[in-house]
Amino acid sequence: MEYILLNNGVSMPKLGFGTINQFGEQIIDNVSYALNNGYLLIDTANRYGNEVEVGKGIIKSGIKREDIFLETKLGPTLYENDQAIDDTLKRLNVDYIDLMLLHHPVNNYIYAYRMLEKAYKDGKLKAIGLSNFPIDKVQEILDNCEIVPAVMQVECHPYYPAEAVKAFLEEHHIALQSWYPLGHGNTDMLNDPVFMELGNKYHKSTVQIILRWHTQMGFGLVPGSTSLEHIQENADIFDFALTKEEMKIIERVSKHQPFYIVTKESLERLAKTKCNFEN
Ligand SMILES: NC(=O)c1ccc[n+]([C@@H]2O[C@H](COP(=O)([O-])OP(=O)(O)OC[C@H]3O[C@@H](n4cnc5c(N)ncnc54)[C@H](OP(=O)(O)O)[C@@H]3O)[C@@H](O)[C@H]2O)c1
Repeated sequence: MEYILLNNGVSMPKLGFGTINQFGEQIIDNVSYALNNGYLLIDTANRYGNEVEVGKGIIKSGIKREDIFLETKLGPTLYENDQAIDDTLKRLNVDYIDLMLLHHPVNNYIYAYRMLEKAYKDGKLKAIGLSNFPIDKVQEILDNCEIVPAVMQVECHPYYPAEAVKAFLEEHHIALQSWYPLGHGNTDMLNDPVFMELGNKYHKSTVQIILRWHTQMGFGLVPGSTSLEHIQENADIFDFALTKEEMKIIERVSKHQPFYIVTKESLERLAKTKCNFEN
């Protein structure tokens, strides 16, 4: 495993397992399988409706809590709920969370970030950060809050390497963690001739080439998969290295457009949608 040293001294494993859209026994088994097959980080969210099962998967894995990096995200409808972080600890069945992010830049995110800061100071969260915040809103957090976010999770992959966000985050020593690291399985990207050729050279799949690119860019990444074979394959990326020239060639495949387009309507929807345990 490779690690990113966060701005508060915490080491974050680069590779994590993403758990969106997986529920019940499936996610219990897949979390346990991932932790026993090369992953040390699990990424979930209040919104994913699977935190209880993620907690069960951790126990099922038999891996010690202190050897696991557990990451979750506060749901926007909970941004002014002072109980929300304690409730998250209970759902996950843990007494601390390694990293908690604000999921989206909507509602009262300044109040929510201050809740994260308080829980960080109380030792309930080992690191805090943001997800999907545009640069101006990260700046607003920096201007109004005490603790610099340690991590920002954003859509990022070779077809959209998030250049502007990356430059801003680097300047402020905030680590970038990629969501949709495989472009949500986009077949054009997974079959791009550039990755095919590199796969042939290194005897790796195109997916492994793409995931290795993330690590060599210095990014964290949380690929998701429902297939045990893929989960294992995606962790087998640390025994080769792309050359500087190959990283340059990959730079040219960028389409400079994310797959997920943020709109006023999408933000309004995200602001209102409740988590499955809220009612
Ligand atoms: N912060 C946010 O707002 C946000 C938003 C979206 C996602 N996320 C996080 O990012 C994680 C990843 O997102 P994602 O799962 O939507 O996208 P992804 O990781 O980019 O891609 C997943 C897709 O790739 C396929 N895949 C995975 N490994 C493969 C392999 N070795 N060979 C071929 N296909 C493979 C999967 O199919 P199979 O199931 O068949 O393997 C699935 O269709 C989520 O689980 C979540 O933790 C965060």
